[in-house]
Amino acid sequence: MESQHSFSGDPKGEFSSHKENMQNLGRKESVPDSGWLKYDSPLLDSALDPTELLKGLALQSFNRSYEDLIPMMTNEKATFDLKKYIETLLEDRAGQALGVEFGGPARRLFDGFTPEFFAKSAGVTLTDPEYFQTYESQRGEKHRVIEGDMFSQSTMQEVYKWFDNQQIDLIITRLIGGTEYLPTPNITIPHLKRCYRLLKNGGVILTDLPDEFSSDNIWKKKFIDWLEMVRVDFEGVIDIEVSLCQRSMRLNKLTGAPQELPLLQG
Ligand SMILES: C[S@@+](CC[C@H](N)C(=O)[O-])C[C@H]1O[C@@H](n2cnc3c(N)ncnc32)[C@H](O)[C@@H]1O
Repeated sequence: MESQHSFSGDPKGEFSSHKENMQNLGRKESVPDSGWLKYDSPLLDSALDPTELLKGLALQSFNRSYEDLIPMMTNEKATFDLKKYIETLLEDRAGQALGVEFGGPARRLFDGFTPEFFAKSAGVTLTDPEYFQTYESQRGEKHRVIEGDMFSQSTMQEVYKWFDNQQIDLIITRLIGGTEYLPTPNITIPHLKRCYRLLKNGGVILTDLPDEFSSDNIWKKKFIDWLEMVRVDFEGVIDIEVSLCQRSMRLNKLTGAPQELPLLQG
């Protein structure tokens, strides 16, 4: 069945721990400092709390991060409205849609959508500080915060279990300053491959890209070559938009898309 998918095991050997990832990067292995872990941003600017902004307790909304990537909708002026874009794109899935954010508790993110639009949602985060838990999500039991390292197999198993091994309609990875922690293509590509496999046909991935893609270097060149290959060879089945200045990407998996994320040969 299309929406069912077995995610058990690590047949492709794509998992490594946060510690290994940090060591591979030559970065100090660490759980990032607590200042960096304190965000639970809203979907739209209108839900930003000015007091929190002033105290440095809030980041920009998800809408602001991804507005460059929102395509013009048929018969619509450009709206730059992420909520409207997602709910229009997934309108056939209203009430059944599944959504996950990697790199954040995502309580406020999913509270920003029309209530009941997402049947289940989750946020995957290294830690879920107590003061976050005092925020009352309107989604109650429909939202789960999964504490763990998103690059580890055990955390991903929890994700698959929460969603009953079903594929997901909306997958977001927004670590912001965390691009530092979702860095280099050799970590990003396996993560993207996993997200792509987890993504339902018709669904969308919104993700940060590593800092390495914003300046001229071999990684950026490879990334541009890959983009070009996907746009030419998978036209009409994978739709990709990139904002190199925001270091963000949107990927839509359309009917006829391959099951695995296509990569460059060699
Ligand atoms: C700057 S905060 C951003 C939070 C949220 N995405 C937002 O935009 O408000 C970075 C988040 O990334 C999470 N994070 C960093 N590395 C992670 C990892 N390896 N696995 C899971 N979460 C991670 C942290 O726990 C923290 O919640």
